[in-house]
Amino acid sequence: MIRFDILTLFPSIFDGFLSESILKNAIESGKLTVQLHNMRDWAIGKHSNMDDRPFGGGPGMVLKVDCIVPCIESVREMFVETGRLIMLSPQGRHYDQKLAEEFAAEKRLILLCGRYEGIDERVVELLEPEEISIGDYILNGGEVAAMVLIESVMRLLPGVLGDLDSNKFDSFSSGNRLLDCAQYTRPREFRGLSAPDVLLNGNHAEIAQWRTENSLQRTKLRRPDLLYEIDQID
Ligand SMILES: C[S@@+](CC[C@H](N)C(=O)[O-])C[C@H]1O[C@@H](n2cnc3c(N)ncnc32)[C@H](O)[C@@H]1O
Repeated sequence: MIRFDILTLFPSIFDGFLSESILKNAIESGKLTVQLHNMRDWAIGKHSNMDDRPFGGGPGMVLKVDCIVPCIESVREMFVETGRLIMLSPQGRHYDQKLAEEFAAEKRLILLCGRYEGIDERVVELLEPEEISIGDYILNGGEVAAMVLIESVMRLLPGVLGDLDSNKFDSFSSGNRLLDCAQYTRPREFRGLSAPDVLLNGNHAEIAQWRTENSLQRTKLRRPDLLYEIDQID
C-alpha cells in the first residue's frame, strides 16, 4: 500500500488518468491511494496569488515560496508517514525503472508539480526535495511527470497486475535488465508475415530459449549501452 500526495495547481488534469483501467482498479482495491491537493488553497494576499514576477526581470512567473512551503508542510502532516518529497523538475535526476522499483517500496511519496518558470529556489534550500526529471525536454508543468511516476510505480505493487509475473520480464526491470522480447498473438499469419513457429510448438524450454535470444538480439541492436552496464555490474 502506497500513498501519493500530489501538489498541483491543476488537480482536474488527473481526473481521467485516475479513473480508468488498471489504475482505477488498483485504487478501488486499496493497493494505492492518490490524494490531490490544490496548491491554490495555500494562496495568500489580497489577490490570492500563488505566483509572482521573477526578481531580476524576465519572462513568466515563479511559484511563491511563502505559499509552497506552508502547503508542503501541511500536506506532510496529513498522514503518519512523512514520506519522500519529490519535486518534478527538468533539472533533476533522471527517472528510470531502477528508481521506480525503489519508490515502489515506499509507504508515501509527495509529488510537487511546478508550473510557469518554476518554483522559488528557496523551497529547495528549505525542504531539500529530491528533484526528478522524466527526460531532457520541457513540459508545461509537473503533472504529466507525476503521472509517469505514479503509473510506473503502481505496476510494481504486489497484486496490481493480473498476472503475477507480467512485470518481471519488462524491459529495464531488475529481473530482466535486457529489453523485453518481441511479442506475437493471433492471427498466426498476416499479409505474408508469420509469427515464429517456436512460439506455437508448446515446448516451454525452447520458447524460453528463443525469448532470451530475441531479448539479447534486440538489446544489442537497440540499446547496446544496457549490455555495457550489465558487464560493469557482473
Ligand atoms: C515550464 S517548466 C519550467 C522549466 C524551467 N524554466 C527550466 O528551464 O528548468 C514548469 C514545470 O514543469 C515541470 N517539468 C517540466 N519539464 C519537466 C521534466 N522534463 N521532468 C519533470 N518535470 C518537468 C517542472 O515541475 C517545472 O517546474
